[in-house]
Amino acid sequence: MTIAAIDFARLYRDHMALSGKPKPNSAWDARAASMNRQVNRGRYVDEFISRMNLSDARTLLDVGCGPGTLCLPLAARFERVIALDYSQGMLDELKKNVAAQGITNIEPLHLAWEDDWSKVPECDIVIASRSTMVQDLGDALAKLNAKAKQRVYLTYLVGGNLINTRIFEAIGHEPTPAPDYIYALNILHRRGIHPRLDYIEDEGPLSGITDFDELLQRLIWSLGELNAYERASLHTWFDAAMASGGLKTARRWAFIFWEKQIANYPC
Ligand SMILES: C[S@@+](CC[C@H](N)C(=O)[O-])C[C@H]1O[C@@H](n2cnc3c(N)ncnc32)[C@H](O)[C@@H]1O
Repeated sequence: MTIAAIDFARLYRDHMALSGKPKPNSAWDARAASMNRQVNRGRYVDEFISRMNLSDARTLLDVGCGPGTLCLPLAARFERVIALDYSQGMLDELKKNVAAQGITNIEPLHLAWEDDWSKVPECDIVIASRSTMVQDLGDALAKLNAKAKQRVYLTYLVGGNLINTRIFEAIGHEPTPAPDYIYALNILHRRGIHPRLDYIEDEGPLSGITDFDELLQRLIWSLGELNAYERASLHTWFDAAMASGGLKTARRWAFIFWEKQIANYPC
């Protein structure tokens, strides 16, 4: 057998199906206000933007834009920005931010990765930041590539655990990790696209939490209901983490990018 026999897009779908059900947009609606409180926070955004080549680019498509974490600071660099998300709650937070900052060139677009994208405009640059953990990555990558006139930038989690594994160990949970970024590279490679790769860190969604109930609700959002033993173990872990300087749950993201003009050639 050689690597050519492996259908990486199919393997990804099978792996993702094992690691749990996709979240409905209502789950993201519920997180929108709290995500918006962190919209201006952290090094991740600066690291992402500093790796982008913005030259000769007038239009931007931000897929899974959330409350505007990336497209808000990028808006001044473009004439037109399309901000796509399937969560109306996220788009409502984005609209508030746009109004508060007096931005006039961001157009929210209420759409899912899985929808028909025929009405999504092609843009010079397409980005998908921390929003690519979809059921069908092969389809998602094809959509990003099709809508980009010049360049695509995305991040995909390294390792497949959105939540720090030390928390899983503490509460005795053993979830199947979601697929890792390596699938994305293999799917692209199979299509004759040879992307560049870098890594950036974010603080993780749990960093800085100082209230046990907030931590508990965030974990229930990610993992589903916790039983009494798991809650008690989580409390013990939380107390120990707070006593040694607070919650630190940084995550590593693969930063994957390619140029349209040079990416596609027969191999
Ligand atoms: C972790 S947030 C990332 C937000 C922002 N891009 C960032 O880096 O901070 C993931 C975003 O993807 C959106 N999302 C998740 N699944 C989606 C889907 N199937 N179609 C469209 N958007 C989706 C969520 O609503 C959420 O706004």
